[in-house]
Amino acid sequence: MQKYSVLVAGGGSTFTPGIVLMLLDNLDKFPIKELKFYDNDAARQEVIGKACAVLIKERAPEVVFSYTTDPREAFSGVDFVMAHIRVGKYPMRELDEKIPLKHGVVGQETCGPGGIAYGMRSIGGVLELVDYMEKYSPNAWMLNYSNPAAIVAEATRRLRPNSKILNICDMPVGIEVRMAEILGLESRKEMTVKYYGLNHFGWYSDIRDQAGNDLMPKLKEHVAKYGYVVHKDIDSQHVEPSWNDTFAKAKDVFALDTNTLPNTYLKYYLFPDYVVEHSDKEYTRANEVMDGREKHVFGECRKIAEKGSSAGASLHIDEHASYIVDLARAIAYNTKERMLLIVPNQGSVSNFDPTAMVEIPCLVGNTGPEPMQIGAIPQFQLGMMNQQVAVEKLVVEAWIEKSYTKLWQAITLSKTVPSATVAKAILDDLIAANKDFWPELH
Ligand code: NAD
Ligand code: G6P
Ligand code: MN
Repeated sequence: MQKYSVLVAGGGSTFTPGIVLMLLDNLDKFPIKELKFYDNDAARQEVIGKACAVLIKERAPEVVFSYTTDPREAFSGVDFVMAHIRVGKYPMRELDEKIPLKHGVVGQETCGPGGIAYGMRSIGGVLELVDYMEKYSPNAWMLNYSNPAAIVAEATRRLRPNSKILNICDMPVGIEVRMAEILGLESRKEMTVKYYGLNHFGWYSDIRDQAGNDLMPKLKEHVAKYGYVVHKDIDSQHVEPSWNDTFAKAKDVFALDTNTLPNTYLKYYLFPDYVVEHSDKEYTRANEVMDGREKHVFGECRKIAEKGSSAGASLHIDEHASYIVDLARAIAYNTKERMLLIVPNQGSVSNFDPTAMVEIPCLVGNTGPEPMQIGAIPQFQLGMMNQQVAVEKLVVEAWIEKSYTKLWQAITLSKTVPSATVAKAILDDLIAANKDFWPELH
């Protein structure tokens, strides 16, 4: 089997060690000859890099490993770039969440004004990675899960239409793992799903087993009572009570349309009042992650580096990130695996904007994704998607044109925001907070 060279961009990410352990666990399916990290924060990346050097030496010493902040060194000679950067890091996520909340509006990483602010920071960062990849390894593919994926995907569609970048999200994977548990299946891969929407904004319309039996009735019965809450520890990422609330709230989201099963993120658009009421303006998800996952991962990594051994360390294989290996394998070995990806609509959802970036099932092979036909979707979903896609497109236009008005329109159009007045107040605060990251708007 051919061995591949992989670059993780955003080497200093809290998810990097879990993904590295997952890659090492899957070397039989996806052999790696060289693994590199790239980040623009040398000190942050070094902590993770030193620990991963130990993990790799212990588990797969034949894999050549290095980390760097030099783009040429990083992006030369690679086959795949796995990208998960967070432009502005956690202190900016904290502001994305707290600024809207101060105005009584949902404060969330990827939804509403917080997601828009994050999008305005991410576009430039991700385009820079794409350009490095094309300069130094023109045949490589980028598997991007840097958020907000919807806005990043629209930006790459507009500005780098011919680049080999695939945008993907793990939320459907997380939901499907729960569905498999509800159904008593060994693996989510025993289900064939039909799903459509935008990223963090979609619905399952059909779920069947391998024999073609309809699994929706049993799932609906569970979701109507408990949302996606299951009584088994099946997820190493979405563990805190705040995530449990999100999985539980899917019950109320489902009630709005019992023909489909919703993505958990729809709660922010359909129940924004509930979300705001249940948010702590002083302590948001960013604080939870900084005090939890970030402290834990960096603490464990420092210990591993000091001891030169991972014995006794509590870093876990990020099992549910194995969809990234599935995607790399699909391209490397032309597996034609069916996966949900964020791709140009081009008629798949027949009554929706052909230029929208939609999240739909695709067959993935060595030439990229072949999107599947969805057909016409119902008025409720269509109305919501038309509004939300306008938000995402306006953000990208605002970034390209440096337009204050377009960004104000984008925030005003978000279903999470009550009026243009509130949108303007939030925007003005966000501009001040993001002065080091956004283009100057006029
Ligand atoms: P993190 O802040 O711990 O890590 C991100 C890293 O990116 C940091 O080390 C930072 O220095 C680096 N970085 C920032 N800007 C950069 C740039 N321009 N060039 C190179 N490196 C840069 O964040 P995290 O919580 O580990 O998340 C990483 C990313 O993965 C986020 O965008 C998050 O939203 C995303 N994510 C996406 C999914 C999905 O479903 N698509 C799932 C999980 C995480
Ligand atoms: C899900 C989403 C990601 C998002 C993450 C946030 O996995 O699909 O897009 O980044 O949740 O999780 P966190 O633990 O950082 O709040
Ligand atoms: Mn996601």
